[in-house]
Amino acid sequence: MFADIVTPRLRLRRLRQDDVRALLAYRSDPEVGRYQVWSPETEREVADFVAEQFEIEPDLAGTWFQLAIALRAADGPWQAEVGITLAPWAQGRGYAREALATVFDFLFDGLGKHRVVASADPRNEPSVRLLERLGMRREAHFREAFWGKGEWCDDLVYGILADEWRASRKSSEDATGGPVGLGGGDDGGSRLGP
Ligand SMILES: CC(C)(COP(=O)(O)OP(=O)(O)OC[C@H]1O[C@@H](n2cnc3c(N)ncnc32)[C@H](O)[C@@H]1OP(=O)(O)O)[C@@H](O)C(=O)NCCC(=O)NCCS
Repeated sequence: MFADIVTPRLRLRRLRQDDVRALLAYRSDPEVGRYQVWSPETEREVADFVAEQFEIEPDLAGTWFQLAIALRAADGPWQAEVGITLAPWAQGRGYAREALATVFDFLFDGLGKHRVVASADPRNEPSVRLLERLGMRREAHFREAFWGKGEWCDDLVYGILADEWRASRKSSEDATGGPVGLGGGDDGGSRLGP
């Protein structure tokens, strides 16, 4: 199953039907297609091509797997919010940190997110310790920010940027000599949890 590849400025992904117009525009340009065999003339032709591409995977003998080269500037959302809940028996063993560290790798490296946020009630000491152990920065303390279970509750907001996560991961790897299960959208971004 092909997963997107992200570079600092680009996202290499599968072609989609909403690419059809853009694809037709430049592939039918005589200047662009001067030395290429395939120069489509209609949206239908391109739509059929994109549909065919959806059926195949890379590295299939006898086929071309064509990637869309999209600008990440057009990506979104750039942020994700995480949250986590463990059953009581699973707490106090480092599972939460190990799981969230892997989720951070996925969000930053796999999905190309720029910022990850989490929020915690300040009375929730294990949660606060977890977020700080992951290298997240306390960015806000909102007083009586929401009503929950019959009372006004404070809300701590934590954040970490992709570069900060990579730097903390690298320094941890340097210290241990290898990769480890390390410890780190309020813009309407995606959410992972609970
Ligand atoms: C928030 C929550 C997920 C944190 O879980 P946790 O078990 O404390 O966190 P970890 O799995 O990372 O475990 C860390 C603890 O295990 C200890 N530990 C024991 N063995 C360990 C090991 N092999 N590796 C790492 N840590 C280990 C650590 O020392 C640490 O203890 P400490 O917090 O007393 O210093 C958990 O408390 C929870 O599910 N709470 C209920 C739901 C909730 O409130 N969620 C948060 C909403 S924002």
